[in-house]
Amino acid sequence: MSEIVLEVRSQKSEVRSQKVVGGPRRILQAAAAAGRRTTNVSKKTIRELALDGRRVFVRVDFNVPIRDGVIGDDTRIRAALPTLTFALERGATVILGSHLGRPKGTPNAGFTLRPVATRLTELLGRRVVFSEDAVGDTVLAALSEAGPGGVVLLENLRFHPGEEANDPAFAAALAAPADCYVNDAFGSAHRAHASTTGIVDHLPEAAAGLLMGAELRHLGALLDSPQRPFVAILGGAKVSGKLEVIEHLLGRVDALLIGGAMAYTFFMARGLPVGRSLVEATLLDATRTIEQDADARGVRLELPSDHVVANRLEAGAAHETLGVENPAIGDRLGVDIGPATVERYAATIAAARTVVWNGPMGVFEIDAFALGTVALAEAVASSAATSVVGGGDSVAAIGRAGVGDRITHISTGGGASLEFLGGRRLPGVEALPDTAESTV
Ligand code: 3PG
Repeated sequence: MSEIVLEVRSQKSEVRSQKVVGGPRRILQAAAAAGRRTTNVSKKTIRELALDGRRVFVRVDFNVPIRDGVIGDDTRIRAALPTLTFALERGATVILGSHLGRPKGTPNAGFTLRPVATRLTELLGRRVVFSEDAVGDTVLAALSEAGPGGVVLLENLRFHPGEEANDPAFAAALAAPADCYVNDAFGSAHRAHASTTGIVDHLPEAAAGLLMGAELRHLGALLDSPQRPFVAILGGAKVSGKLEVIEHLLGRVDALLIGGAMAYTFFMARGLPVGRSLVEATLLDATRTIEQDADARGVRLELPSDHVVANRLEAGAAHETLGVENPAIGDRLGVDIGPATVERYAATIAAARTVVWNGPMGVFEIDAFALGTVALAEAVASSAATSVVGGGDSVAAIGRAGVGDRITHISTGGGASLEFLGGRRLPGVEALPDTAESTV
């Protein structure tokens, strides 16, 4: 008997925690049932909205890394440009709303979106007026300063508690200055917040933006019509965070390549030495069941055959490569996949026609332990397969390897792309109206 806490979403998209106690199959079934996927392919898009002379509230995900007012990575800002340009070229006035970090419902200068207004002004080549509040007269003043056809960026929506609480009064206040709504924030589509769901009830028209459309199209194609062989690469720290995805993908992929710390729970279940590596001891039976399920479905589940082990999780720590059966790991811990594993995984990736990758193969933050992850980034880019990469570290590895232009689709959604691939409903998508004409 094992025990695990799952985040479960109800039909109304409310999220609650559910403790599941039982055997491994019970845990896997509960994980799979935690949400049900809708195909999400028939949503109305911004292309179907009349935009000329109208004020459009565009929910974007500008949750970007900012330190001391300097933006570390502007990928998510750039990703919103097609929708913004589309709306502006058609004569709309654009009101942009986003969250940044988790300021817990109160104003906090450390989480201001002001630097994003500056960066967006540079990227768009036109002035973006920053509104110091997300609702009320401040917004109206910013809109009159921007003028018709202008752009206003609202201050962090999460400075108001009503945002995360999906408070109808806050949603109505957000909607008040706008004529219609566009959701382009795929990265936040797994959140049922005022600006991602509630606001739809307060405006006569709503649609998906171009980024949202592209994300749903690429990720949806993985689940609905992948070219075979279809290979999934999953890494990262914990099996528990990926149970749903594993269970959902096992029914779809031809091979599942596992790396990162999550491999050590599988190793321990197989009786291999793991030293001080991160292991989720309550999930040993679940990993055995995953292996049986993979076998039963004819899916090749591959684990590392060699790994890099180190004394400490620090740059400069002594390390060496060992076979995973080698007890010489002692009390050290696994920090990366080894070269033999890279070669084997790369061969599987080279033969694939569809690849999805989420999660690093090792402790990617430390250069010496990032080799396996970067090598896989190169393997994915070199493959002729349609490739989709999501999750902060794997996307960063793609950037570090300099191969972004050879990846079919780099998802802007970390949690959102995982939930989508795990078969969950995304409330931000569900809230948008369906259409027969959709090009999403
Ligand atoms: C993300 O970075 O995954 C999204 O912006 C959502 O952020 P959150 O996890 O704080 O809701």
